[in-house]
Amino acid sequence: MISTANWWETGVIYQIYPRSFMDGNGDGVGDLAGITRRLDYLQWLGIDILWICPVFPSPMADFGYDISAYTAVHPLFGTMAEFDDLIAAAHRRDMRILLDFVPNHTSEEHPWFIESRSSRDNPRRDWYIWRDPGPNGGPPNNWLANFGGIAWEWDEATEQYYYHAYLKQQPDLNWRNAEVEAAMFEVMRFWLRKGIDGFRLDAIWHLAKDPLLRNNPPNPDFDPQRQRSYDALREIFSADHPDIHPILHRMRRLVEEFGDKILLGEIYLPPERLVAYYGSPRAPELHLPHNFELIFTPWRPEALAATIRCLEDQLPEGAWPTWLLGNHDRPRLASRLGPAQTRIAAMLLLTLRGTPTLYQGDELGIENVPVPKEHILDPWEKNNPGLGLGRDPVRTPMPWDESAYAGFSRVEPWLPLNQDWPQRNVAAQKKDRGSLLMFYRHLLDLRRSHAALTSGNFRLVQAGDGLLAYLCEQKRERMLVALNFEKDKKMLRPTGNCLGRVVLSSEGDRKDEIFSGQARLRPHEGLIIRLG
Ligand code: GLC
Repeated sequence: MISTANWWETGVIYQIYPRSFMDGNGDGVGDLAGITRRLDYLQWLGIDILWICPVFPSPMADFGYDISAYTAVHPLFGTMAEFDDLIAAAHRRDMRILLDFVPNHTSEEHPWFIESRSSRDNPRRDWYIWRDPGPNGGPPNNWLANFGGIAWEWDEATEQYYYHAYLKQQPDLNWRNAEVEAAMFEVMRFWLRKGIDGFRLDAIWHLAKDPLLRNNPPNPDFDPQRQRSYDALREIFSADHPDIHPILHRMRRLVEEFGDKILLGEIYLPPERLVAYYGSPRAPELHLPHNFELIFTPWRPEALAATIRCLEDQLPEGAWPTWLLGNHDRPRLASRLGPAQTRIAAMLLLTLRGTPTLYQGDELGIENVPVPKEHILDPWEKNNPGLGLGRDPVRTPMPWDESAYAGFSRVEPWLPLNQDWPQRNVAAQKKDRGSLLMFYRHLLDLRRSHAALTSGNFRLVQAGDGLLAYLCEQKRERMLVALNFEKDKKMLRPTGNCLGRVVLSSEGDRKDEIFSGQARLRPHEGLIIRLG
């Protein structure tokens, strides 16, 4: 297929959580050498772009999202030489690498913060957000931390509070200070010079806050039984400040100095606010602002159609959508939707208009792995017990084969494996033509060989109750995708003149079946039909 679209529009992103992908040095924790060893697998699967979660020096209060040195590799993950090897090996396979960049906060152990907290007149004091107590002697305002508790930490020695949107071990940088921007842009240049292909920007909607530090208003819909304490307030003043946009535009210009590089961003905002992060044609910002809408939307055809339409309608001219169904922070796709729906979930993600991101292990249908209470590691769970927010269950090691520790490591891994690993592993599913893994591979292959599925136009169509159906069209190629969300059979009867042949069923059969305007879909079945 000859395509004129950009690599980051047609490509498929695969998110690697390095601690749990592959252990190359036998210490029970995944590492860079392990990723390099498993590149053949990713190539075989049909992946184009790897997003690698943080591998930098860190005290690991938030498992690497608390960085204490931005331009080095944590010894747990290997060496800089191994990082260079990984880039070279990926590029030899025509795969791109996106690095996780955490611009909003550092670790409290970062030398910048150590200096900043050392005295009120330290030159780096203003690199972080320090404030005197509020009028009543308590914190400067009512802002809450994402991981529980208030967002201000008292510093006894210098008698001021510092702000942290996440853990107290993750103080927020002050991006209103030009030196911070310059230093962080240097970090980006460092990795770009090494040849990476772009960044995933962590927590980017937190980058600038209200300079007046006004109190956030209460959230009238807050339900403490279901929601974390953070949701008691609406993050009106603590996040999504308009001053983030010029910074992101400058960041975009910076990455473009290095050629065809991209910015992917983590943004937990509703579509109408998320789309601002694309910027404008004159001042572009992120290439791909990740939205979490498919995770938050009830898994029903009408609701999903409304979400997709809503995002498509709000996209600025020329902007390219991007979708995901799972990541290292959210419950596993197979647990949320149920194993029977994993195939149509894959079909949806890989045929919607936009760049998809797959989370490692979802291609095997791994479910949340129960982690015994005494082994819980995730600070989010520890600070909000009982709400099921824990992220350990979705960060468990990749099961590669039937050998000890599932071929992930030579020793006991840092988190337990999925209990069904002896059956649910890469090698076993590779041998089984009907497995979910083989289905993903087939789907990725199909996607690559049909421009309508990677860069076509997109149109929702009415096709029957319980079904989600849409057309993907590119020049003369028209593909109809129809997904049955129900455990009953459903009749697919799309409006309009639709004749064609089945190219793929989620059940693996029906290929080349003639479609003469209607077809019965089995429970949980998805079909891709080539029209015309
Ligand atoms: C993002 C990351 C998450 C991390 C948080 C704080 O949400 O995805 O894993 O804990 O930022 O850096």
